Amino acid sequence: MTKQTVLTGITTTGTPHIGNYLGAIKPAIEASLNSNNNSYFFLADYHALIKCHDPDRVARSTREIAATWLALGLDTDKATFYRQTDVPEITELTWILTCMTSKGLMNRSHAYKASVDVNRETGRQDDDDITMGLFSYPILMAADILMFNADIIPVGKDQIQHIEMARDIAGRFNHTYSPLFNLPEAQVDEQTQLIPGLDGRKMSKSYDNTIPLFSSSDELYKLIKQIKTDTLEPGEPKDADSSTIFQLYANFATATEQAQMRTKFENGIGWGDAKKELFEFLDSYLTKPREEYNHLMHDLAYVEQQLHKGADKARSYAAPFLEQIRNAVGIRPLTWQGSSAVQTEEKKEKEQSAEQIARAEEGRRRAILMQLKPMLDRVNNAADKSSEAQQLIAEKESEVETLKKKAKQKAQNELDLLREELAEFLG
Ligand code: TRP
Repeated sequence: MTKQTVLTGITTTGTPHIGNYLGAIKPAIEASLNSNNNSYFFLADYHALIKCHDPDRVARSTREIAATWLALGLDTDKATFYRQTDVPEITELTWILTCMTSKGLMNRSHAYKASVDVNRETGRQDDDDITMGLFSYPILMAADILMFNADIIPVGKDQIQHIEMARDIAGRFNHTYSPLFNLPEAQVDEQTQLIPGLDGRKMSKSYDNTIPLFSSSDELYKLIKQIKTDTLEPGEPKDADSSTIFQLYANFATATEQAQMRTKFENGIGWGDAKKELFEFLDSYLTKPREEYNHLMHDLAYVEQQLHKGADKARSYAAPFLEQIRNAVGIRPLTWQGSSAVQTEEKKEKEQSAEQIARAEEGRRRAILMQLKPMLDRVNNAADKSSEAQQLIAEKESEVETLKKKAKQKAQNELDLLREELAEFLG
């Protein structure tokens, strides 16, 4: 069985919290132990510059995140653990991909559009405070992923669109030059999206409701005491499932421990006691990795060295692959003619496997579908979907009629795809 490449990046702007641990770090470290996976985890420090212009914060977050992953037992011989900026091939690829990305695709990026929306709501110009970094953020992310031909990208829901964009960009490259890129898939774990923070909303830096993973015992208890509860008195039965305290507990506890805690809730445990139990449980769970973390934060030369080891491993894949990519786009040594060995290599590349053709085809298909989304939405949002679908196909058919040659072929392709996508409504 061929190994799957699992890759994910962590933007270095914050301090790792319990939500990050349960939602991303723990599952990633577990996945890296599976010998069918080839894992790449990296600190996305160039991504950090997009949203944070405080140099000390970026540097501190980079130290904290690196030390956290190591303290939690990430094995750097099994996984490739590196800092994005230590792999210059990624930024070089970013430019090549930038030249393969339509501006229209970036215009649709949620992250960018959200900032425009905020500007509009606050009566400012659309482009106020919007950098080109934010606008082209998905291209850097595509380069992170495509540089290693990753298959599976574990991410939060908000990142799904970026993976789709990476597929799009890869498809366009494959089509234009040579099918060098695999099309990655997002992997979203619904369960771990639901870790509640102190106020009961999803634990997130942006809500300021987080519990830092390695806060001191005192700090941890202080935060747990701030968890929002209702006004039920001790002795009154409490609903475990709607309680943040219980949910946090359950995410760390075994099934038996959960059942015991559930019983305590049914029997009316007081909120103060419930918080104390949660604290004691979490504190003992975290004691060992916390010690290791504090130790590593005092031995940053070691952490740095681990990251360099990861960067060397990453570059041993990225550098020769980038060479291939450069050649494919025509960035070649002046004397490059392709030695006979290289030529046969090239020929081999040209004889695409059925799988590669299928992949490239899928990439093209998705790229067209992305453009057609508004039309599909029109049908999906219509009260009478089937008559709306027929209407739309009729419009497109008459459009095809009026066009010439290349434009006609393009519109015909779109029409074919629309017919496929709307087949269920067209009868
Ligand atoms: N943008 C991602 C986030 O904010 C972080 C990230 C950067 C990433 N590059 C990536 C995630 C590549 C997965 C793959 O969460």
